[in-house]
Amino acid sequence: MPGWCAGMVKEPLMDSQPDRATWFQGGEARCDKPPSASGKAFRLVLLGPPGVGKGTQAELLCKRLGTCHLSTGDVFRAAQCQNEPSPALKAALEAMRRGELVSDGLVISMVTERSDCLSCGGGFLLDGFPRTVVQAEALDELLEKQGVRLDGVLSFELPIERIVERLSGRRTCSQCKAVYHVTARPPRQEGICDICGGRLVQREDDRPESVRVRMQAYEESTRPLIDYYAKDNRLIPISADGTPEEILERALAALHARSVTAEAASTSRSA
Ligand code: AP5
Repeated sequence: MPGWCAGMVKEPLMDSQPDRATWFQGGEARCDKPPSASGKAFRLVLLGPPGVGKGTQAELLCKRLGTCHLSTGDVFRAAQCQNEPSPALKAALEAMRRGELVSDGLVISMVTERSDCLSCGGGFLLDGFPRTVVQAEALDELLEKQGVRLDGVLSFELPIERIVERLSGRRTCSQCKAVYHVTARPPRQEGICDICGGRLVQREDDRPESVRVRMQAYEESTRPLIDYYAKDNRLIPISADGTPEEILERALAALHARSVTAEAASTSRSA
């Protein structure tokens, strides 16, 4: 596979984030060491258009909250490196390259296989799932079976022109998957990853023709999730304007406000 798998010998990020091994492997795989939960285990969904900065925020939020970053896109990109992908996986990867959504059936069964991650004591940040109302309903069922509930859905918002700017300048390390931007988050040495020295590449689905298809898929299939989560007050809108650190602080403040409100409500119920 050009670009993404070049130089890869292992599943991405497994050395730098051992806690994601279970998510990448699925099935019987178990975490050797669940992420340490400092106090509360946050269980969150990150929602927003492609390129708004969900992955960037996931990385920062995981460091601050001690949660695990569960990205469906990362699992599919890791699967690109399999020698003999199944016909269903091959079709999924082709859809992904064109910028289309992978079928609900395949995505839901992939997440179901990994549903132990949803009850992990360290919490989770789901990035890229759910993306359709059918997936959101399936997630609610999985959470119910696991006996856990979402703390909230962080919904990142930014005008489309700014998003296209972010996507067209994104570069990703072909080895450790660290994410850069040619102007907003440049590496110290052009084209080379600061962390592992790997080659920086452009994702295949960041080509303009795929970006157009991804935006359309977002508008048609994913935007309706804003209403889905707003109707039972799980939605937490966050402006994605500003630097990654500013957005992080905004998200943490919103989460704090949400948990303070929830605590006050439960105190007044039990009084
Ligand atoms: P996925 O991997 O989930 O991609 P996505 O949702 O399209 O999101 P991106 O990873 O493109 O963007 P991001 O929001 O994480 O932005 P980032 O932080 O990198 O999915 C890929 C594909 O897989 C889908 O198209 C589909 O085919 C398939 N798929 C996955 N899940 C699926 C599902 N559930 N159902 C069906 N199909 C599924 O930031 C972007 C750039 O901006 C970077 O360069 C970054 O450095 C820069 N940046 C970030 N924040 C800032 C900032 N504040 N200021 C300036 N620059 C910034």
